[in-house]
Amino acid sequence: MKIETLRWFNNRLEMIDQRILPAAFEYLSYYTAHSVAEGIRSMVVRGAPAIGVAAAYGVALEALHLQEKSADDFKAGMDTGFKVLAASRPTAVNLFWALQRMRKVWEGVATQTQQQIAQRLLAEAHEILAEDIRINKAMGANGAALLKDGVRVLTHCNAGALATAGWGTALGVFRSAVEAGKKISVIADETRPFLQGARLTAWEMVQEKIPVTLITDNMAGHLMAHGEIDAVVVGTDRVAANGDVANKIGTYMVAVLAKRHNIPFYVACPLSTIDLDIASGKDIPIEERSVEEVKGFRDYHWAAEGVKIRNPAFDVTPAELVTGLITEKGVVLQPDVQGIRKLFM
Ligand code: MRU
Repeated sequence: MKIETLRWFNNRLEMIDQRILPAAFEYLSYYTAHSVAEGIRSMVVRGAPAIGVAAAYGVALEALHLQEKSADDFKAGMDTGFKVLAASRPTAVNLFWALQRMRKVWEGVATQTQQQIAQRLLAEAHEILAEDIRINKAMGANGAALLKDGVRVLTHCNAGALATAGWGTALGVFRSAVEAGKKISVIADETRPFLQGARLTAWEMVQEKIPVTLITDNMAGHLMAHGEIDAVVVGTDRVAANGDVANKIGTYMVAVLAKRHNIPFYVACPLSTIDLDIASGKDIPIEERSVEEVKGFRDYHWAAEGVKIRNPAFDVTPAELVTGLITEKGVVLQPDVQGIRKLFM
């Protein structure tokens, strides 16, 4: 089954509503930058590359929406659209990368008619989507070469087709390994509190018929200690210039455990997720989400009323714990400033 996380359909953007998966499979429609920003904020779409693609379409939709307005209103509306999209979520750098790319395209055709600008922006959004799938496949092939036949590989959160335009980053590595004829089995961390592992990774692997076992996050150490995990592959939301990796909360814990048990810890990372403007992980903004996600589920609260709750959505794994960054340009072993810089040469 081909998972189309985002698709252009009847002059609008459609996105799978990931909040209700796997209980229900439904597309929601988007017509403006503002509604796309709300879709990103509320996690209809999530995962760093998918957020970037959604933002690019948000810009194109806003241009289509405003194309008949006066030049002043068009410009002011577009600027607001960019701002609203940029404020939707803070950690995944792909969002800002995509917005910057769309702004550059707009500036490049600013003298054309608004209708032409809108069409050019839409073409760029289509290209960002198609490019993301191509990149994931290249990254998948590079990562698959690292995995031995019969490997038991742990992943955290969802870095799959649902987190991208298709194929996935970490799960793309698993798909490519299977495509290359390797047998693999996946251990999926449930990923508290939003349960991307239980709901999304498990669902994707089951659809794909790739053997998958679900565990709660606190079981990973036990399985590693018993020799039941051979490798870890995760995705990332932002990699700093020195190789520090921000990813879903709990990733750091997995990386420390992997080091303790001599298990390779790989990060699947398209170049669009590397932020050369940020020197180290301590400068990566970490989203703090609603305490409701930790307190319970929907209306049911299992936490004691009155207790103080924290909900940082991401953590930073220091580069020294990363065995290798798997990119579309190859694998950077023991990533550091030099190794990362070379990727952009
Ligand atoms: O809060 P989310 O679900 O957007 O977090 C997603 C992750 O942390 C993913 O691992 C990351 O974006 C990589 S996706 C290819």
